[in-house]
Amino acid sequence: MREILDELERRREAARRGGGEKRIAVQHAKGKLTARERLELLLDEGSFEEFDMFKTHRCTEFGMDKVQIPGDGVVTGWGTINGRQVYVFSQDFTVLGGSLSETHAEKICKIMDMALRNGAPVIGINDSGGARIQEGVASLAGYAEVFQRNVLASGVIPQISLIMGPCAGGAVYSPAMTDFIFMVKDSSYMFVTGPDVVKTVTGEMVTAEELGGALTHTRKSSVADGAFENDVEALLEIRRFFDFLPLSNRSGVPELPFFDDPERIEPSLDTLVPDNPNQPYDMKELIVKVADEGDFFEIQADFAANIVTGFIRLEGRTVGVVANQPLVLAGVLDIDSARKAARFVRFCDAFDIPILTFVDVPGFLPGTAQEYGGVIKHGAKLLFAYAEATVPKVTVITRKAYGGAYDVMASKHLRGDINYAWPTAEIAVMGAKGAVEILYRNELDDPEKIAARQREYEARFANPFVAAERGFIDDVIMPRSTRRRVCRAFAGLRGKKLENPWKKHDNIPL
Ligand code: HXC
Repeated sequence: MREILDELERRREAARRGGGEKRIAVQHAKGKLTARERLELLLDEGSFEEFDMFKTHRCTEFGMDKVQIPGDGVVTGWGTINGRQVYVFSQDFTVLGGSLSETHAEKICKIMDMALRNGAPVIGINDSGGARIQEGVASLAGYAEVFQRNVLASGVIPQISLIMGPCAGGAVYSPAMTDFIFMVKDSSYMFVTGPDVVKTVTGEMVTAEELGGALTHTRKSSVADGAFENDVEALLEIRRFFDFLPLSNRSGVPELPFFDDPERIEPSLDTLVPDNPNQPYDMKELIVKVADEGDFFEIQADFAANIVTGFIRLEGRTVGVVANQPLVLAGVLDIDSARKAARFVRFCDAFDIPILTFVDVPGFLPGTAQEYGGVIKHGAKLLFAYAEATVPKVTVITRKAYGGAYDVMASKHLRGDINYAWPTAEIAVMGAKGAVEILYRNELDDPEKIAARQREYEARFANPFVAAERGFIDDVIMPRSTRRRVCRAFAGLRGKKLENPWKKHDNIPL
C-alpha cells in the first residue's frame, strides 16, 4: 500500500517539475514566473483544484514518443479569487515552449466547458510558442476547438487573457476573442507573424517588442486593455480586477462591503469646471471622487485617452464608467474613442453591469482622416452600443453636449434612465461661435453685432434648462452632490426590466 501511495506522490512531483530545473532557471532569468508560481499568486492560497496533471500527448512523429512530460505543457483547473470561483489555465513554457498540442488543447477545452456549465469566468495565462510544430494539423485542430469555445462563452462568462510570454501565430486569436487582454511589459508579445516573416514579406525591419510588445498593443493597436511592469504586479492587479466582474451573465454584479458614505458631499466638484469653456479639466477627478473609496480600475488607459472607460463601485456594486476626457483633444469623439467605448458598453450590457456616463463632448472630430477612416461607421458603433443596452443607464452632463455626440452619449432618447446635468452644462447643436457664424453669415463683418448674437445664443442654449424644460434632463444637480444623486439613481434602478425585440443577433456596424 505504502508503495502505491508513494507512486502517486512521485508522479505528482514529476508533473510539478514541468520541463525541469534548468528550464525553470531560464524562465526565471527572463524575469518570468513559472506556470504554477503564477497560479499560486493569482488564486487564493490552497484553493487550486488541478485537473489532468498526468495527461500526456499521443504524438509519435519526430521522436516525440520519447518526449513525454506529464501535463503536456499546461496547468489547468479551478480555484478562487477572494472566495469567488474561477477556471484557469496556465501554459508552461518550460515544456516544449508551452506549445499547444492536441492534448494540451483538450485540457483547456475541458475547463472551458466546465466554466460554461457552472457559470464561472475563465482566466487564461498565455506563454507559448504556438501550435506544436511536430503535431501538424492535430494542433491546429486543437486551437480551433479552443476558438469555438471562446465564441460560445462570449457574453455568457467573462474571459480574461493574460499574455505573459510569446504569443504568436494563431495563438493570438484565442485571446483576441476574450473580453480583456492584459500584457506584461518587456516579456510578452503578440503578433500574427514574427519579425523574420515580416522582413521577408514586407522588407520591414522591426523587433519583436516594436511589432507586438505591450506598449505597441496598449498604445497603437488597442489589442490589449492594459500592461503591467512584471508578472507579480500583473497577477495581483488581475485579482483586483476580478473583484469587479460578475461570474456570469446571470449572476448579477458582485456586492462587496463598502466603507464610503453614499451621501458623501464633494464641495471641490463645484469648481471642477473652469470658468473659461475652452479650458480643460481632468474628468478622472470626477470619476474618482464619485467612486466608493476612490477605487477606479481603468480599461485601455493608454489608447484613445479622449474617452475614459473603466469600473468603479457604488454602494459596493460594480458600475461601468464611460466619460469624455476634456484633457485630451477636448474630449472629442473620433474613430478610436468610439470603438473603445462601444466595446466597453457592450461588455457591461452583456454582463448586466449598470453604466454611468459623464459627458463633456464638443462633437465628432471633423476632417478627411476621420472620414476616410470611416468615422461614420465607427462612430455608429458607440451609438448602437448605447441604444441597444438594456442595463440601468445614468448620465451626467458636466459641460458640453454638442450635436450628434449629445445624442450618442447615453442621452434620454437612447433610453437613458436618469439624465442629470450640472448647472454648467451646455446642450446645443454646436458651440455659440460656430452657430452664429452660420446663422448670421451676412453680419460677419460687424464684430459688435456678431458678439451680441453670440451672447444671445449663449443665453438661450449654453445652459441645461432648455433640455430640462423638455424633460430630456431629469434634474439639474449640484456638482458637489453627484455621488449622492448617482448612487440614489442606481439604487432606484435595481429592479429595472427592459428587453429588446427577439432577434437571432443584431448587425452592429463592424
Ligand atoms: C514545438 C516549440 C515550439 C512550437 C518553441 N518550441 N515553440 N516546440 N512547437 N511551436 C520549443 C523549442 O524548440 C525549444 O525546445 C523550447 O520550446 C524553447 O524555445 P526557444 O526557441 O529556445 O525559446 P525562445 O528563444 O525564448 O523563443 C521562443 C519563441 C520561439 C519565440 C516562441 O521558440 C519560436 O519562434 N517558436 C516557434 C513559433 C511559431 O512559429 N509557432 C507556430 C506558430 S503558427 P528545446 O528543446 O530546443 O529547448 C501557429 C498556428 C496556429 O501557431 C493556427 C491556429 C489558427
